[in-house]
Amino acid sequence: MKVALATCASLPAGDGDDADVPGALADIGVESAWLRWGPETDTDTDTDTDADLVVLRSTWDYPERAAEFLSWCESVPVLANPAGVVKWNLDKAYLVDLIEAGVPVVPTAVATPGFDAWPEGEFVVKPTVGAGSRGALRVAAGDHEAAAAHLAGLGGPALVQPYQADVDHVGETALVFFGGRYSHAFTKGAMLVPDTVTDPTGLYLVERLDRAEPDAARRRTAEDVLDAATGLLGVRRADLLYARVDLIPGVDGRPLLLELELVEPSLGFGLADPGAPARFASAVRAALVDLP
Ligand SMILES: Nc1ncnc2c1ncn2[C@@H]1O[C@H](COP(=O)(O)OP(=O)(O)O)[C@@H](O)[C@H]1O
Ligand SMILES: [Mg+2]
Repeated sequence: MKVALATCASLPAGDGDDADVPGALADIGVESAWLRWGPETDTDTDTDTDADLVVLRSTWDYPERAAEFLSWCESVPVLANPAGVVKWNLDKAYLVDLIEAGVPVVPTAVATPGFDAWPEGEFVVKPTVGAGSRGALRVAAGDHEAAAAHLAGLGGPALVQPYQADVDHVGETALVFFGGRYSHAFTKGAMLVPDTVTDPTGLYLVERLDRAEPDAARRRTAEDVLDAATGLLGVRRADLLYARVDLIPGVDGRPLLLELELVEPSLGFGLADPGAPARFASAVRAALVDLP
């Protein structure tokens, strides 16, 4: 059984987070190789693969090429997570679907030019397709001019959310699931704060990550998020090879969903217990066994 780990041309051997994954796969008899995603016409992509399954791992350049990325996903015979899941999850408007499904989510509106229902206090304007905090702006209460200018500059729809200020001292908690089962968690410091620094490439803000042991409320909320999402998608939890549920505290301290990552999540192997790569590998093998 062979698996291709999908990455982007600028990271031909992944972004480092998955360094122990090929070894963990090999330990249970699954061969793996990195595969650079992209259209057949690009010279720096890999088009030939004899893999039984392609697993999305570090395709970090997709936000700039979302339509192209989606059609590539659709061209892959067997992809994890599946192309239909990717399609729904690429556009953060999926948060509105989850709100309608009753999940506790950071209040979210989708704004297009002319939008004027800005939240009362501080708020955030960020692209609907995005990663690495790129294009996310924290706006002071009442500064509608800055918000409208940022929205126009994004050149497409944006999400508008009240700023959840407790993130500044509590941070964000990411709960990672493999094959629908909880594996581990880590925290990420607030990103829209003055002391954040940009990586030398200018591509992303440097993240401050740490190990975490989530409390019962976060565990329960993350489970509810996965149940709601799989219900909306019409798939089984086991059909999600990996999922990351990012939670931040709401005004009353209750955990709220900030993002459900089903496309390129950093799974935080470097912050997890040493068993995490093996748990991921066994979820991959379970997906292989499930193949038609
Ligand atoms: N409504 C919000 N309240 C507080 N912080 C936010 C909010 N939206 C975004 N952030 C901050 O911005 C970062 C990036 O936003 P996020 O929605 O996670 O997009 P992405 O990680 O895909 O770029 C988050 O990790 C968080 O620190
Ligand atoms: Mg995020």
